Amino acid sequence: MPNSALLDVEGLSVAFQGRPAVEGISFHINEGETLGLVGESGSGKSAASLAVLRLLPPTATVSGRIRFSGEDLLALPEEAMRRHRGRSMAMIFQEPMTALNPVMPVGAQIAEAVRAHHPELSGRDVRERVVEAMREVALPEPERRFSDYPHQFSGGQRQRILIAMAIVNRPRLLIADEPTTALDVTVQAQILALLNRLRASHNLSMLFISHDLAVVSQVADRVAVMQHGHIVEQAPAAQLFCSPQHAYTRRLLASAPTMQTDRTRPLATLA
Ligand SMILES: Nc1ncnc2c1ncn2[C@@H]1O[C@H](COP(=O)(O)OP(=O)(O)O)[C@@H](O)[C@H]1O
Ligand SMILES: [Mg+2]
Repeated sequence: MPNSALLDVEGLSVAFQGRPAVEGISFHINEGETLGLVGESGSGKSAASLAVLRLLPPTATVSGRIRFSGEDLLALPEEAMRRHRGRSMAMIFQEPMTALNPVMPVGAQIAEAVRAHHPELSGRDVRERVVEAMREVALPEPERRFSDYPHQFSGGQRQRILIAMAIVNRPRLLIADEPTTALDVTVQAQILALLNRLRASHNLSMLFISHDLAVVSQVADRVAVMQHGHIVEQAPAAQLFCSPQHAYTRRLLASAPTMQTDRTRPLATLA
């Protein structure tokens, strides 16, 4: 495990009221690298990522070690953790509509994210940063749409707004938990292209979570496969796709419809 890893997770376990959800997983993410975390629903992907940000409910018990930029996150006081969240590490979720406040203009919501970490900035500077972030995620006419409400945007645009909110403070690590699952295939491809562009332009490290190996294959440098709370296989993306070692990985590959070239065949689903 390289010392230079931005995020280094060792033996992470999460249990909810004694029921294990994540059992001793280890992974790391280097500077500028994207790790794909893939596995079927309920395998513990979200629990693992929420543990990194320390956003799990108090009913969860967490053990192991999580180092971010050399700092031991599980030992940090909450106040220090709050300074990391939304600044050096940010998260985007699956459902853009529930993550946005329906009665607040989108520009104001992104501005809140800026102000939370930069109270020293003037209103004008905040607005400038917000418009810049909206432009970076390719939202059309950011100045004009700054004052529009979430319902005035399409699903794909709402996800762009959340991505703008996540990157506006220039985080080093972006955790994306099923960011395209609620979107149709065309829009999904556009959002993945956007994330790939941002990765390159911001030198972002990314933990990209999906149940869909085909989606993961479009962004990840390395892939960790999760099953029942364990990482059963971890490999560079190309290697994992060419020669999967674990039976479960092979099943995931076989059930990833968008990776099949023969679209006339019926779509397989996970048992
Ligand atoms: N807040 C919670 N309280 C109790 N159990 C939970 C909670 N969140 C997740 N779990 C359980 O932990 C396991 C892993 O869930 P999760 O991490 O959400 O899986 P995934 O993201 O891979 O679909 C599941 O069995 C789920 O029911
Ligand atoms: Mg999940």
